[in-house]
Amino acid sequence: MIMLIDLIAGARPNFMKIAPIIEALERARACGSSLRYRLIHTGQHYDRNMSESFFEQLGIPAPDVNLGVGSGSQAEQTAGIMTRYERVLLERVSDVCVVVGDVTSTMACAITARKCLVPVAHVEGGLRSGDWAMPEEINRIVTDSITNWFFTTSEFANKNLCRMGVDKKNIFFVGNTMIDTLFKNLMRFRKPQIWSDADLREKEYFVITLHRPNNVDGEKKLTALLDEIVRSARGCPIVFPVHPRTAKNLARLGFAPNGLHMIEPLGYLEFNYLVKHAWAVITDSGGITEETTVMGVPCMTLRDSTERRETISLGTNELVGTDPTMLRPYMERLFEGGWKKGAIPPLWDGKAAERIVGHLERLLGNPSDTKKGSESRAKKRTP
Ligand code: UD1
Repeated sequence: MIMLIDLIAGARPNFMKIAPIIEALERARACGSSLRYRLIHTGQHYDRNMSESFFEQLGIPAPDVNLGVGSGSQAEQTAGIMTRYERVLLERVSDVCVVVGDVTSTMACAITARKCLVPVAHVEGGLRSGDWAMPEEINRIVTDSITNWFFTTSEFANKNLCRMGVDKKNIFFVGNTMIDTLFKNLMRFRKPQIWSDADLREKEYFVITLHRPNNVDGEKKLTALLDEIVRSARGCPIVFPVHPRTAKNLARLGFAPNGLHMIEPLGYLEFNYLVKHAWAVITDSGGITEETTVMGVPCMTLRDSTERRETISLGTNELVGTDPTMLRPYMERLFEGGWKKGAIPPLWDGKAAERIVGHLERLLGNPSDTKKGSESRAKKRTP
C-alpha cells in the first residue's frame, strides 16, 4: 500500500534539513519502497535569496503545494498556514506529516495535521533553550507536545523528551539532517563575489549573522552590538550577509561603519564557503553553530541561551550573551590563539536522513503503529 508523507518546509533553515530526506525517500522508492511524499512549502520565506536559491542549489524539487502565506505577525502566519494546510489535508489526507526544526511553519502544520488525525514526526525534536521569550521555543514545546515520533539530533534532546514523559519507543536518535547536507555539499561550496570585492584571505576575516528580534529590533541594541563587533575585530574585515528583518532596521539607521561589509543574504554554497574559510563566526543563529562545529570554525553566539548544547560541550561554539561588552574576552581568547578545537557530535555523520526514512518505513508499514492509513482516516472524517 502506498503511504503518503507530507514534508513541510517554510523558512530558510528548513530547506537544508529537508533536502537529504527527499533524496533518501527517492532512493528508497527506487529500491521498491511504498513511501511517497508531497512537498509543502508554506511560503513563510518567499524572497529568492531566502528560499528559491536554496531549492536550486540543493536540488530540491519544486514544491507540490505552496501555501503562499507570506509575511505577517506570528499569529497571522500561524493562522494562515493552518487554514491553508487544513484545506490541503481535506482534499487529500496524508499518512504522516514530517515537520523539521522550530519555525512558525513547523508548529502550524503539526497542529493542523494532528487535528486532521494525521500522525506527526518531528525532525530535530526535543531541543530546548529554556527561553520562553523566543517564538522558536514556543514552537518547539507546542510541536513536541503533539508529536508522535521524534527524530533527534542529540542526547540532550533525548533527555528533554524523556523528562516530558515521552515514551522511549517513540524517540529515534538519528543524527542531524542539516549536517547530511553540509557533508554532501562541502566540495561544492563556492566563492561569493564579496571574496574579491573585499579582498578576503583565508582565516583572516569574520562572518557575522544577526536576525533575532531581541538583537535587531531595538536600534540601540543593534548598533551597540555592531559597534562592539567592529571594535573588537581589530581591523579584520567582517562580512555581514544581512537578513531582511535586520536590513529593514539598518536601513532606517543609515549605519555603515568601516570594515563591515554588509551584503544581501547569500546562497547556501556561498555562505558556507565563507564560513569554512573564516577565522571565526559571530552569530545569533542556532543552525550555524552546528555547521561551524562540524567545520571546526570558532563560533561566538550572541544569545543568552542555546537549544544546541552539544555545540558548546563538544563543538567550537561559546555562548557569549547579548550584552555587547561580553564579546571582548572571547575575542581576546581568539586573538591569543586559545580557542578550543572541538569535536563532531555523535551520529552527525551524513546519514541521518537515511535513518529517518528507515524508521518511517517501519512505522508506516506497521498498521498497529499508525492505527490507520490515509484511506481509512479519510473515511472516518467523512460524515
Ligand atoms: C524565521 C524563524 C527563525 C529562523 C529564521 C531564519 C520563526 C519564528 N522564526 O525568522 O527561527 O532562524 O527564520 O531566517 O519562524 N522577510 C522577507 N523576505 C523573506 C522572508 C521574510 O523580507 O523571504 C521579512 C518579513 O517580511 C519579516 C522578516 O523578514 O519582516 C522576518 O521574517 P519571518 O519569517 O517572520 O521570521 P524570521 O525573522 O525570518
